[in-house]
Amino acid sequence: MFKKLNILDEREKCLHEVSQEVTFPLSKEDKKLIQRCIDHLTYSQIEEYEKKYQLRPGMGLAFPQLGILKRIIVIVYEVDDGVFENYVFINPKIISNSEEIIAAEAGEGCLSVNREVDGHVPRYARVTVEGYDEDGNKICVRAREDLSIAFQHEIDHLNGILFFERIDKNHPFYSEDEIRLI
Ligand code: NI
Repeated sequence: MFKKLNILDEREKCLHEVSQEVTFPLSKEDKKLIQRCIDHLTYSQIEEYEKKYQLRPGMGLAFPQLGILKRIIVIVYEVDDGVFENYVFINPKIISNSEEIIAAEAGEGCLSVNREVDGHVPRYARVTVEGYDEDGNKICVRAREDLSIAFQHEIDHLNGILFFERIDKNHPFYSEDEIRLI
């Protein structure tokens, strides 16, 4: 049966702390929690379940948002209508990035930030992320556009950084000729 996750609010201390590297094998509890993240994020992006369980739509979660300071992120990315790709990265690291900077035109959101935050968050248009899967195998992904933003947003959580901390207070909005807005 589906059980909604208890996602912590930005006021909680653990959202501002640096998470620890994970060692293998993963504990049963961590594996279970990863699956619950996948379920929660998937359901939150399907209207029927979103309503039924009163979920806020979101595509990514990091363990510190659940009060666990471990370097684990989960992204559920809708590649096509109702078709989802799951990315579970343990100890993720950005090993290379594009020079090009983009920002989500509508701004970013976060399941731990329960208020409206205006402003563009500059992000790399493309990143290559290395990490480990749940069984400790090395994995690597090249992410672009909104998936690239998602990876950077979630990896920031592992370092105690929330998206709005990257908004320039003196220049919160960019024009198309400054950076590409997606
Ligand atoms: Ni977030």
